[in-house]
Amino acid sequence: MKIVSTIEELRDQLSGQLRTAFVPTMGNLHEGHLSLMRLARKHGDPVVASIFVNRLQFGPNEDFDKYPRTFQADVEKLEKEGVYVLFAPTEKELYPEPQEFRVSPPDGLGNTLEGEFRPGFFTGVSTVVLKLFSCVQPKVAVFGKKDYQQLMIVRNMARQFALPTQIIAAETWRADDGLALSSRNMYLSATERAEAPSLYRALTSVAGEVRSGHLDIYQLEHKAMDELASRGWNPDYISIRKQIDLQPPTAGDLAQGAPLVVLAAAKLGTTRLIDNLEI
Ligand code: PAF
Repeated sequence: MKIVSTIEELRDQLSGQLRTAFVPTMGNLHEGHLSLMRLARKHGDPVVASIFVNRLQFGPNEDFDKYPRTFQADVEKLEKEGVYVLFAPTEKELYPEPQEFRVSPPDGLGNTLEGEFRPGFFTGVSTVVLKLFSCVQPKVAVFGKKDYQQLMIVRNMARQFALPTQIIAAETWRADDGLALSSRNMYLSATERAEAPSLYRALTSVAGEVRSGHLDIYQLEHKAMDELASRGWNPDYISIRKQIDLQPPTAGDLAQGAPLVVLAAAKLGTTRLIDNLEI
């Protein structure tokens, strides 16, 4: 695997490649990321990964400084997955001057759910993803469904800007007890880790109720949040939305069986976890 840190070296390595499959990451790689690499390999060649902890997508009180950086271990994992190039730019390389041009997602999609609780987050994500795409110029790029809203925003951005990159969605990788793998799981204490799968269980229960015809969305969401709160969580939201645009379903949407997804974000101690389940 070639490890490159400049855009020039990256372009040299990839010159003439027309089927590059790209997986952007912020490092601290786990089995979920590695499953994205394997999916990328099915859709293109060579596979390029990036590791860049993107300051633009962290709020002032978020964990940018303590975000886990495990570069050497990440390199070993990517080598085993047959990744051809790892692009690991410094901040100075990717943002040599203040990044004043930014991509801001539309309000309806960018300011709801995660966007409501993490203002500016999706502008930071969209901006770095567009910039990474411009560096790598991939034919396809793989994003996990774990970050459902991010996936949808990147997909819409690629469509609206007519980017020559197809966005591929990868299923969420879960531990045996259902907890979605995330770099932030490492912040959990042993007791919190034992409690953490309750978030997935809450989603499973809401999805089950909807599938069996219980369509009082408001009541389902509130019951699920109350239950989590009674177990010591601090939920930001549990929300049933339409898969197509992540807006709340109307009675008409429900009657017509619009595909739904239930999304959740909640804090356990100081760790904020997100998860979702298509219904
Ligand atoms: O999902 C992530 O790890 C990040 O948001 C991404 C897509 C690499 C952009 O920094």
